[in-house]
Amino acid sequence: MLDRIGELRSEVEAAIAASQATGDLEEIRVRYLGRKAELTTILRGIADLDPAERGPVGKAGNEARGALEAQLARRREELEAGELGERLAGDRIDVTLPGSPVAPAGSLNLLMRTRREIEDVFTGLGYRVMEGPEVELDYYNFTALNHPPGHPARMAQDTFYVDPGSLAPGIEPPPGPEDVLLRTHTSPMQVRAMEAQPPPIFIVVPGRTYRSDPFDATHSPVFHQVEGLAVGEDITLADLKGTLDAFAQAIFGPERETRFRPGFFPFTEPSVEVDVSCFACGGSGRLQSGERDPLCKGAGWIEILGAGMVDPNVYGFVASHGYDPERVQGFAFGMGIERIALLKHGVPDLRKFFENDVRVLEQFR
Ligand code: DAH
Repeated sequence: MLDRIGELRSEVEAAIAASQATGDLEEIRVRYLGRKAELTTILRGIADLDPAERGPVGKAGNEARGALEAQLARRREELEAGELGERLAGDRIDVTLPGSPVAPAGSLNLLMRTRREIEDVFTGLGYRVMEGPEVELDYYNFTALNHPPGHPARMAQDTFYVDPGSLAPGIEPPPGPEDVLLRTHTSPMQVRAMEAQPPPIFIVVPGRTYRSDPFDATHSPVFHQVEGLAVGEDITLADLKGTLDAFAQAIFGPERETRFRPGFFPFTEPSVEVDVSCFACGGSGRLQSGERDPLCKGAGWIEILGAGMVDPNVYGFVASHGYDPERVQGFAFGMGIERIALLKHGVPDLRKFFENDVRVLEQFR
C-alpha cells in the first residue's frame, strides 16, 4: 500500500510538471485527488486496514495528498501568470492611435468661427467677453435701455414673450405677466454688466437673440449678435470710430474704412449706422469689368452694425453702481453675427448656417 502511494505520488508529480494549461491541472486534480480517485479510496479505506498499517498508510496518504495539492496550486499560479501575459500581449490596443480609416476631424460652424474671430479682435483691444441670459426681463431688454413702457420702439422688435408661470420653480417671480421675454438683442447685457462692475468697463457680449421673424434667406427667429460697451470718463465718438475701423480691418481686410451715418436707437445719443467700404469693389461701386457691384449695389459701402454714444438716461438706471451720468461717457455697438459671416464669406442664404449640411460646413474649416 505504501509503495502504491509512492507510485501514485510520482505519477501525479510528473503529470503536474508536464501540464501546459490550467485546464490540464483541473483534469489532474479530478483524476488523482477527486472523489473517485485511487488515493481518495485508499484514505477512505484506512479504517478497514490492519491496525498496524493504519498509522503509516494514513500518514503517507495524507502527506501525499497535501504535497500534491500544494504543487497543483503552485503550478496553477505559474500557468495563470503566463496565460494572462499572453492574453494581454494578444489583446493590446493602443487607444491613442488614430482610428482606421482615420475619422475626419470635425469643424466649427461658420457662425461660431465668426463669433470667435470677433471676440479675438476685441480681446486684442483689451475687452473682456461676457455672456448673459437669453430669457430676459422686460426691464433689461427695454426699460433700462431707455424704451419707456408704451414706447413705439418696443413694437419695432417682434418680441417673443415667455409665460412667467413656465419658469422653473425657485426663480424669483417677475413683476408682471408681460415682463419675461426672449431677449431681442444682446443690448440688455450693457445694463447687467454695468450693475456688476463699476467704470471703466470694456466688454463684448456674444450670444443668441430672438425675434418673431420668418425663416428666410435673410431672417431667422433665432440669430446671433455681439454687443460692445466701452464706458469711462473721457471716451468719445472718435474712439468709437477708431475702434470700429480696427474691427473692420481685422475682419474684412486692412484696406477697409468705416463710415458713420446718422441713425436712431433709444439707448444711444447720438446714434449711428456704420458702413464698411465694400470689399468686393474696393469702395468704387463698380467691378473691374465696369459692371455695377452687386454686393454693395453700386454704393461702395455696406452696412454692418449700429452704434452710438450711450444715452445718459441709460446711466440713470445704473447710477447707484458708479455710473454718474454727469461723470461717465462711452459708446456701445451691436452687430449681427450672421450678417458679418454672410458678407465675409459670400454665403447667399442665412438658412445654410442652420441646416447642418456637411457639404456647406466643410467649405469653412
Ligand atoms: N440692439 C440693436 C439692434 O438689435 C443694435 C445696436 C445698435 C446695439 C446700437 C448697440 C447700439 O449697442 O449702440 O438692432
